[in-house]
Amino acid sequence: MPYSKIIGSGGFLPPRVVTNNDLAAELATRNIETSDDWIIERTGIRQRHLADPGVTTSQLATEAARRALLDAGIQAADLDLIIVATSTPDHIFPSTACLVQAALGARGGAAFDVQAVCSGFVYALTTADAFIQAGRARTALVIGAEVFSSILDWNDRGTCVLFGDGAGAVVLRADDQPGILAAKLGADGSQMNILCAAGNVSHGAVVGDPFLRMDGQAVFKLAVTSLTRSANDVCSMAGVRLDDIDWLVPHQANIRIINFLGRRLGVPDERVVVTVDQHANTSAASVPLALDAARHDGRIKAGDLVMMQGVGGGFTWGSVLVRM
Ligand code: ACO
Repeated sequence: MPYSKIIGSGGFLPPRVVTNNDLAAELATRNIETSDDWIIERTGIRQRHLADPGVTTSQLATEAARRALLDAGIQAADLDLIIVATSTPDHIFPSTACLVQAALGARGGAAFDVQAVCSGFVYALTTADAFIQAGRARTALVIGAEVFSSILDWNDRGTCVLFGDGAGAVVLRADDQPGILAAKLGADGSQMNILCAAGNVSHGAVVGDPFLRMDGQAVFKLAVTSLTRSANDVCSMAGVRLDDIDWLVPHQANIRIINFLGRRLGVPDERVVVTVDQHANTSAASVPLALDAARHDGRIKAGDLVMMQGVGGGFTWGSVLVRM
């Protein structure tokens, strides 16, 4: 049975950088009070990249994909599977993955979206890995991409300061050497209300609330417990110890969740990849953007053991352990 090997990665952030001070000044024009100090202290976020009006998730995804293909040294025509993880698709249908396929000039392979909010990338990566292990694909493009700013209530200071836009991508190829060693996904749909955007479009009208709503403290607790359990499970499955992990690449929601998790798992800060300060929470894009940043600045090297972890709405979570 073949392994899936990550042979390339790429990331793309929209060029418009909005600092906490920029955001505080903008919110102040609507009498909504926030500050750089509050945001940094509670979240670790210093800035986020926001897409300009009209920029779509598939456009960000395609840019990240082009960079990942270049990094992997392969052509779009070589892809036989494209999976996009997103909660902010361009359309109801077709899937964002089909739009990316067309934009890249790839043809004929399978293309579909995965919806698991901030866990989306680890869900998509695990799905692509299963395709490759089963012999149903040999070369897969896995993307996490979001224009999350489009589902934020910019009058709700409790949520709008937390998120950003972006896309990250990896190319996987079948290989007889590992590769992805183990993966485990989980969900608890009974917790749907603590983090949701519960609206829809029906009969030509928006039905329900189209904006993201969150019970931050409930999310914090569930994120830490589910990710701790998930990390232990995936290490047991692979027969490795938490100590063996070279790099933890967790979902970038909040520095306090990341620090808490690192302490619980016994992974020292210098082996935890952090981008939340620069990118804020880019939902499904956060893990591949962080992975790509650490690969390209030389921290994550071939042969390193890397644990990627996602957690988010649903409630969903998951971990993927990979030998780079
Ligand atoms: N600026 C200033 N004050 C604010 C802001 C803001 N942006 N947002 C909320 N406040 C105020 C609240 O109104 C409240 O004021 P009050 O005491 O007068 O009522 C006070 O700050 C405390 O509000 P809480 O919501 O209780 O703040 P908390 O300490 O819980 O921090 C936070 C909020 C950062 C969201 C925290 O709950 C958290 O870290 N949660 C984890 C969830 C998370 O990171 N989610 C990201 C998306 S989910 C995911 O990706 C998995």
